[in-house]
Amino acid sequence: MIFFPMPPLHLGDLEIKTPIVQGGMGVGISLSGLASAVANEGGVGVIAANAIGMIEPDYYQNGLQANCRALRSEIAKARARTSGVIGVNVMVALNDFPHLMRVVVEEKADVVFMGAGLPIRNIPVAELRRAGVKVVPIVSSRRAADLIFKYWDKSYGDVPDGLVVEGPLAGGHLGFAPEKLTDPACQLEAVVPQVVEAVAPYAEKYGRSIPVIAGGGVYTGQDIHKLLSLGAAGVQMATRFVATDECDADRRFKEAYVNCRAEDIVIIKSPVGMPGRAIGNRFLANAAAGIRNVKRCAWKCLESCDIAHADYCISVALDNARQGKLDGGFAFCGANAYRVEKIVPVHELVHGLRVEYESAVVREFTQLRDEYLKTMESGFRNLCGEFTQTAARMRLLRDEYLERKVVSLREESERMRARLAELRQEGNAWIERLNQLKGRFPEKVRELQAFAQELQRDLLAVPV
Ligand SMILES: Cc1cc2nc3c(=O)[nH]c(=O)nc-3n(C[C@H](O)[C@H](O)[C@H](O)COP(=O)(O)O)c2cc1C
Repeated sequence: MIFFPMPPLHLGDLEIKTPIVQGGMGVGISLSGLASAVANEGGVGVIAANAIGMIEPDYYQNGLQANCRALRSEIAKARARTSGVIGVNVMVALNDFPHLMRVVVEEKADVVFMGAGLPIRNIPVAELRRAGVKVVPIVSSRRAADLIFKYWDKSYGDVPDGLVVEGPLAGGHLGFAPEKLTDPACQLEAVVPQVVEAVAPYAEKYGRSIPVIAGGGVYTGQDIHKLLSLGAAGVQMATRFVATDECDADRRFKEAYVNCRAEDIVIIKSPVGMPGRAIGNRFLANAAAGIRNVKRCAWKCLESCDIAHADYCISVALDNARQGKLDGGFAFCGANAYRVEKIVPVHELVHGLRVEYESAVVREFTQLRDEYLKTMESGFRNLCGEFTQTAARMRLLRDEYLERKVVSLREESERMRARLAELRQEGNAWIERLNQLKGRFPEKVRELQAFAQELQRDLLAVPV
């Protein structure tokens, strides 16, 4: 029994009971199997559209049709297995982007996540709205969030329903220059509060909340608790979902996660011109040594990819890895992949995260309560004592002054009055702190409130 559940995530009128978005993983890693299992746990299950057509037999002849057909069919399969929330991840930089967006609209996915480029121009906003698809761009900085919201507000008279902030510990392609990956200013903990601040004026203007979802290196329920405390409304996780029974990749892909060590995880320069994080292997070592492993372009998926100069075709390499043929490719992974110990069912993973989240809440509460008790013992009780003594002394001085009219007595009495005002203010600040606690721990409120009321009574009972 969980007493402190994670709070639900709201995306427009969608309520997501478990505020976990399973990050889209392209080239067939997150399809209907994984997405429906996550949706059945109350999270958002995400099918990645990027090179999804590689699961079809005719991708090399007919990339566009294969992509659209596979996406349509995976959404339908996921729908058949769950009544939960199903999203689609589409990379903005894809040549097929407009076609895949049409499938998203026609199949009425619940949410579309758009990354790898800024989703600003040529977004079918009206169609998405008509189909009830929630729109969530993926960004890595406040600057990108500002650009997207400003553009949408001006050009579409609308804004996205939420944002995913992806930090530098994420898997797959990364939205940072390699030298920025360890920059403290680029870490999730720094960027999330900035993005929350950036979207706040739009939330006010459009009269709806705009949740920020934090991803990249989120591994435990404690991590989830920390990010929610920083203002995120949910998290996006991918690496942990790879090591599940339901993940759509071959078991050997998942086992690569279980077997890898921290020192095996490398940053690569992908042929698409972006850095990426992956489990290093001979295939990548050969590519880094300039050994070319490419014959032809499988499908012109990205404008930015130049097959004449690429060491390998990224889609083919990732598709081989998906099928467990790791000597012909490699596994993308997040920075924490080395912590994965075993492959588990999605239910077990999510349950574990819930338990860890609850223990983080309880730990924080216990710390706060200890702080509260200490503050009260050493601070508030003393404050009450001083207040009582000061008030009594002031009354004596006043009586003496009224009797003898000695000016110095009056001055001292006034000093006492000022001190009393200070004490009152300190007492109020303390009560405010208590109210903050109250907001954070509704379950424990009554206990704390009774405590506070007792002390407040002490304070008010002192005659002035
Ligand atoms: C194997 C793999 C493939 C990924 N593919 C994509 C993708 O196609 N599109 C995308 O936006 N993000 C992709 N990502 C990023 C994830 O969606 C997610 O945001 C990120 O990995 C979260 O960090 P975590 O893995 O530490 O949980 C991929 C990540 C992994 C591990």
